[in-house]
Amino acid sequence: MTQGPAPSLPRHLAIIMDGNGRWAQQRRRPRLIGHRAGARAVNRTIDFCLERGIASLTLFAFSSENWGRPAEEVEGLMKLFLNALDREVDELHRRGVRVRFIGERERFSAGIVSRMQLAEQRTAGNTAMTLSIAASYGGRLDIVHATRELAREVAAGRLRPEDIDEAMIGQRVALSDLPPPDLFIRTGGDIRISNFLLWQLAYTELWFTDILWPDFTAGVLQQALDDYARRERRFGLTSAQIAAAAAETRSP
Ligand code: IPE
Ligand code: IPE
Ligand code: MG
Repeated sequence: MTQGPAPSLPRHLAIIMDGNGRWAQQRRRPRLIGHRAGARAVNRTIDFCLERGIASLTLFAFSSENWGRPAEEVEGLMKLFLNALDREVDELHRRGVRVRFIGERERFSAGIVSRMQLAEQRTAGNTAMTLSIAASYGGRLDIVHATRELAREVAAGRLRPEDIDEAMIGQRVALSDLPPPDLFIRTGGDIRISNFLLWQLAYTELWFTDILWPDFTAGVLQQALDDYARRERRFGLTSAQIAAAAAETRSP
């Protein structure tokens, strides 16, 4: 089975929003000012994706490793999350966005956890776009959780180790109900994955920019989408096979 050529618009876009701290440092301001400016870039990005009809947007907001930052920065980020949850959910709901969180929710304060739950419950029936926020998320831990679940099945005698396949792991990692990301964007100039969606990114098109996250605009996103539309996704096959499959789907 061939997957065919890339549809010109990604169905699922995943973004590492990096560079808030450097943006602030360039202005000789505290890092938190950068995170605040980053929150405005989040709103712009959601607007753009809704307008363009991108069905799923996944944003890396806070990694499992980010807990190790100075207490002052972590506390400031938590306040920012709390404010954002209080301020933005009504509007997201009004616009038909389904909001979900992936990651170790239990590490957040009760106030944040209850607001996350409320946001998810309120917006569960929305269909305009699925917005997944990765918060205290780590790709390796995601795979560990899936593995534990399968190990429990084996221990209970319901599953044989030799029957474990890629689909079973894929069904147990985060975002299993969505197509894997078609396009990954990282701002901030670093060319790495930083423990984001390791399993889910296996065949994702990767796109990197030096632009710092608070400076991310519709124009930059459009540039990423244009580059994406020009790429040939081969999924291990040859160009000729991909062209033949595309011709087949075009013919009646
Ligand atoms: C990304 O920006 C936001 C979070 C990790 C919470 P950074 O805070 O990592 O910004 P830089 O990379 O230090 O510039
Ligand atoms: C990745 O950025 C995590 C988020 C954007 C939330 P980091 O700034 O934590 O990544 P590293 O440390 O540069 O790899
Ligand atoms: Mg960073």
